[in-house]
Amino acid sequence: MAIEFRPSRKAIELALNQMKADGIAGPDAYFDYDAPGGLMQAVTYREPSFVYRLGRTSAEEEIVDDALELLKSHKLIGSDASYNKEAVVLHRKEVKEKFKGSWTSLSPTMERLMYMLTSVRQPQRLIELGSFWGYTLAWFAGPCIGPHKSFDAKKIFGIDIDVKMTDQAHENFAKFDGCQSVKLIGEDAQVALERLDGPFDFVYIEAKSENHDGMYLTLLKQMYDKLPKGAWVMAHDNYDWSFAEEMKAYLPWVRDKAHFSESIAFDIDHCGIELSIK
Ligand SMILES: C[S@@+](CC[C@H](N)C(=O)[O-])C[C@H]1O[C@@H](n2cnc3c(N)ncnc32)[C@H](O)[C@@H]1O
Repeated sequence: MAIEFRPSRKAIELALNQMKADGIAGPDAYFDYDAPGGLMQAVTYREPSFVYRLGRTSAEEEIVDDALELLKSHKLIGSDASYNKEAVVLHRKEVKEKFKGSWTSLSPTMERLMYMLTSVRQPQRLIELGSFWGYTLAWFAGPCIGPHKSFDAKKIFGIDIDVKMTDQAHENFAKFDGCQSVKLIGEDAQVALERLDGPFDFVYIEAKSENHDGMYLTLLKQMYDKLPKGAWVMAHDNYDWSFAEEMKAYLPWVRDKAHFSESIAFDIDHCGIELSIK
């Protein structure tokens, strides 16, 4: 066997303390120095390597079926609401073939969840803030774009401050049929939102900036009056531990009945998504 070097117990305890501070490990969590092979003996929901895999299982369809049932049981959608599962498979193939870009944090289960939500909500004016190279927009707007769409939306906005990535998004959507209603804007969302008229009945927030703490809530408050009663707002990363600080003010605000009638936290992968209904 090769010589193995491991950091000291002091370093291990410091790393564990950081996990506690990040909200991944409970205050009484301890490091198991005797675990055979250094392997985990107990796994919990907030373990990032677990929840990452949770978003990538063959139970993807069942998970989204259960999410659909949850919305029905709370009477947030009609009891006959459904989405086209065959279209998801075809859409996924098309997006994979045609879209070029860089990374994305969307898990396959999250892609399907977004597709289902837009299918059952059938919004007319969708908007994503932080649309990057268009991949997340392609899933958010999935049921109303491309050759397999199930309904037409009047307008689909994608806004990102990164002009180069927005140009890439333009190229990507140009390869897709049925995207006439997509409008991509390479600009600071705060500036673009001043100009854009509402109403928006489905909003997806993913604009993150190191230079602006609380960007999600700033953007939401800025556009709140343009959201009609019954509008849906999705915010990605409500369960991403590295984004917890940013979510600290956002989550209580959308969970306050004075602002939204209901808010659902989908804990389905390492990022999660919060769906709030005005
Ligand atoms: C985490 S990335 C989103 C990535 C993409 N939605 C995905 O998961 O594939 C955050 C995005 O927010 C954008 N962004 C940051 N500040 C912004 C602002 N003020 N207005 C619009 N977009 C912004 C960044 O350029 C970046 O593309």
